[in-house]
Amino acid sequence: MTDDLLQIKQKALDELKDLNKLDDIYNLKVKYLGKKGSLTFVLRNLGKMLPDKRREVGMLCNKVKVELAAAIESAADKVKLAEKNRKLLEEKVDTSLPGRRPALGRLHPVNKVNEEIKDIFLRLGFVIQEGPEIETDYYNFEALNIPKDHPARDMQDTFYISKDHVLRTHTSPVQVLTFEKQSPPIKIIAPGRVSRCDSDVTHSPMFHQVEGFLVDTDVTFGDLKGILIAFIHQMFGEKIAVRFRPSYFPFTEPSAEVDMQCVICMGKGCRVCKKSGWLEILGCGMINPAVFEHVKYDTEKYTGFAFGMGVERIAMLKYQINDIRLFYDNDIRFLNQF
Ligand code: DAH
Repeated sequence: MTDDLLQIKQKALDELKDLNKLDDIYNLKVKYLGKKGSLTFVLRNLGKMLPDKRREVGMLCNKVKVELAAAIESAADKVKLAEKNRKLLEEKVDTSLPGRRPALGRLHPVNKVNEEIKDIFLRLGFVIQEGPEIETDYYNFEALNIPKDHPARDMQDTFYISKDHVLRTHTSPVQVLTFEKQSPPIKIIAPGRVSRCDSDVTHSPMFHQVEGFLVDTDVTFGDLKGILIAFIHQMFGEKIAVRFRPSYFPFTEPSAEVDMQCVICMGKGCRVCKKSGWLEILGCGMINPAVFEHVKYDTEKYTGFAFGMGVERIAMLKYQINDIRLFYDNDIRFLNQF
């Protein structure tokens, strides 16, 4: 019997040697030490033995059991340690590596310039107001003193949505929308998208404008000049010369176009300013009383000025971009420069 026990022990130890998986080790434990295991079987049968033999075999059996249990436990510990080391090695973190920077987005140049324009006028005390991109014929034309047969309708190639609805061709309709809801004093800028059926290096079918208008008692052309010169100086620099050139818009009277000294050649004459030394940057004028009559403002009491500018044009001058379509190609190499 004792030989049997020693044999069982040797067999178990031999088997254990070859095991390197925890599951296999636990299975071996069950096989020898479990309820139906070989050693348990011997212990169960002790009762059938003579007392002397029983003592001897019982003691040996317990000894083998303890030794086997210890051997199994230590084998299991080894496997667990090896597994832990393997994991640590695999998941090693090099804390000396530099961090990964998140890729930051940036403002589109048109948005950037739009923000700059808004900031300048906000500092001058203007308030921002927006209007719809789809307008009725009335607000886009009629109420701005551009009746149906008026030649000025040809100045702008309009996208018609229906007989009476258009994609607004300019931000000037916000003037009328505002006058209908508010009484003077009014000091507003209206930035937004506009559309015209036109496309080449300097025209995009969709582009951005900023409209500005101020209505109060005693507003003069001098006020308009002061505000616009301040704007151009803040946008392009104090040294830039500005001139007001007589022009025509149905909704202003008198009207002017504003030119600034060419920022590329500083007035000497170049390709961008077509050798004139000047760049046209916006339209403006004193609001035509005909517009005030549509909204029942007292034209004896109130006067006002208005102006409108193209954001893409200003961005092109500021960053010296020669093709408006670059803004809408979404070429990351172009956009990354701003
Ligand atoms: N709405 C004009 C256009 O898109 C620009 C303009 C000119 C706006 C004169 C004005 C203005 O407010 O007074 O061509």
